[in-house]
Amino acid sequence: MLRRAAKFEVTLNPTTQSLLDPMSAEPRQFLLDRALDEAAAGMVPGAARPRIDTAIDAAAPAVVDGTLLVSGQEVMQTWEAPLMRALAQAVTARGSTVLEIGFGLGLSAGFVQEVGPARHVIVEANPRTAEVAGQWARADGRRGVEIVTGRWQDVLSGLGRFDGVLFDTYPMDETEVDEYVMRDATFAEHFFAPAAAALADGGAFTYYSNEIDSVSRRHQRALLRHFRTFGVQIVDGLRPPEDCSYWWASSMAVIVARGPRRA
Ligand SMILES: C[S@@+](CC[C@H](N)C(=O)[O-])C[C@H]1O[C@@H](n2cnc3c(N)ncnc32)[C@H](O)[C@@H]1O
Repeated sequence: MLRRAAKFEVTLNPTTQSLLDPMSAEPRQFLLDRALDEAAAGMVPGAARPRIDTAIDAAAPAVVDGTLLVSGQEVMQTWEAPLMRALAQAVTARGSTVLEIGFGLGLSAGFVQEVGPARHVIVEANPRTAEVAGQWARADGRRGVEIVTGRWQDVLSGLGRFDGVLFDTYPMDETEVDEYVMRDATFAEHFFAPAAAALADGGAFTYYSNEIDSVSRRHQRALLRHFRTFGVQIVDGLRPPEDCSYWWASSMAVIVARGPRRA
């Protein structure tokens, strides 16, 4: 047995002696303990998740009592507003240019608009949601809004560079759940390279992580491959209702990465 944490124990069976040879006992134990602590700290209660039966860009969305439902999934609810406000604040300054990925209920888009960007491009994959976004964009008082219908993977090139990039999408299908939710350091990781490419020098890229009150070292390394600096802000006081099946915490970490690292 390697070590017993509060909730589990870990046994390590090295398949090669070289894993243990070079280090003396103390630093080896230090590294292993840190890895175990990090794994334990990252554990959150889970919930049953319905499978995504129709890809999000092909499914009919519905808004029921403030919940956006797509393909049988609860995608978001209005109680997320404080989180959406934090994302919007991170990427907006009056007269700046903003790229937002995913319209959803339009909460973050509304907060971006409050600040008054010069250009506000919103990419939305679901055609029905994009239609709603179009109506929203035509309402009085909106500034510089352009709705681009399509998956960001298909439409991003040619949109230019932005002072702020806000990423808030949801796994499109079960393949994305496997690849980006289960395997990556954080869901937004698959968007780090495109975000850096779309960011003006010194610009800010933001998203929230489901790590609740921290970001893992693996996550930090992934960020620093694409950006020069980053900060983490905790948004507290989130109040998911009892029956909310896709959320599990009252706080969430918002990441703001700055300055793309260009090759
Ligand atoms: C969680 S919602 C966005 C919420 C939004 N920030 C708000 O405040 O209401 C996610 C949105 O991303 C869209 N989406 C998912 N995958 C996408 C992709 N690859 N490209 C563009 N939009 C995508 C979904 O259709 C959905 O409308």
